[in-house]
Amino acid sequence: NRLVEFANKLPKAELHIHIEGSLEPALMWRLAQKHNITLPFESVEAIEHAYQFEDLQSFLDLYYQGADVLRDEDDFYTLMWSYLCKCHEQKVVHTEIMFDPQTHTARGIDFSIFMEGFKKAIAQAKQEFGMSVYLILSFLRHLSEQSAFDALYQAKPYYEMIKAVGLDSSELGNPPEKFEKVFAEAKSLGFKRVAHAGEEGPPSYIWGAIELLDVHRIDHGVRSSEDLALIEYLRKHEIPLTVCPLSNVKLCVVGSMQEHNILSLLSQGLLVTVNADDPSYFGGYLNENYAAIIENLDISERQVKQLIVNGFRASFLPDAAKQQWI
Ligand code: ADE
Ligand code: ZN
Repeated sequence: NRLVEFANKLPKAELHIHIEGSLEPALMWRLAQKHNITLPFESVEAIEHAYQFEDLQSFLDLYYQGADVLRDEDDFYTLMWSYLCKCHEQKVVHTEIMFDPQTHTARGIDFSIFMEGFKKAIAQAKQEFGMSVYLILSFLRHLSEQSAFDALYQAKPYYEMIKAVGLDSSELGNPPEKFEKVFAEAKSLGFKRVAHAGEEGPPSYIWGAIELLDVHRIDHGVRSSEDLALIEYLRKHEIPLTVCPLSNVKLCVVGSMQEHNILSLLSQGLLVTVNADDPSYFGGYLNENYAAIIENLDISERQVKQLIVNGFRASFLPDAAKQQWI
């Protein structure tokens, strides 16, 4: 497919990727052996086979279990380095990566263990590939506000490495207002803000993320199509949506790729971007997400180009750096 080739070859930015969601089954298997952990799977193929989800929660259960094999600094280095090599292969020249510190600190793994591993891999990618890499510290919304505050303060020695805070995990029942205070504190510390909203949750959660958390971007946001006033607001204020097509199909947020509303959102004038979310669990990295929409939707070359340019526009890169890619 000519358009798939076209998208593969252009320099791209990725804005919605969970590093724990880039843990490939083969690496999970190898780390389980290294640390003498018994996985509830018989083989690498059995892990791959288990990746059939009915909703967000059924995925999150496996995703948190998978992350348990990440134990020492070298594991986190390898995880990050593997993802950054994939970026290099796929012409992703800038990436803003979410990580979930509470998933690790809750298991007794200190902030320094994962941050030092990430730091080495990121320095290497900057040096060897000339990539730019930002980190987004994401709070787990199924945990308490106090736990989020703890994560924010434990990160203090690493603030220079962190560009923004985010909000992820089980959306329904954990609305943005639960994290209003911790987002206000993050803002006063100088962090940018993003939040998952309108993936499974209603448009009111997107309004909440905007009005109470003062976010720069909405992660997913596909349910904004249910609220015309919200669409108008997102358009007027150029609030980007980081849409993840393969994720939405795998988690049954949409019935099929053919029914995905990404082009409808784009043609309504929203700043829509394409992203992978959890590539190892959902069947592909950024290029596979482009391929999926190109092969299943009636998309033009101009629209593909627009989505790719939007990735840079919606990024936290300084304007001069954005201009280089737009
Ligand atoms: N954590 C990792 N992937 C996620 C997603 N798609 N939604 C919410 N939390 C997540
Ligand atoms: Zn996500």
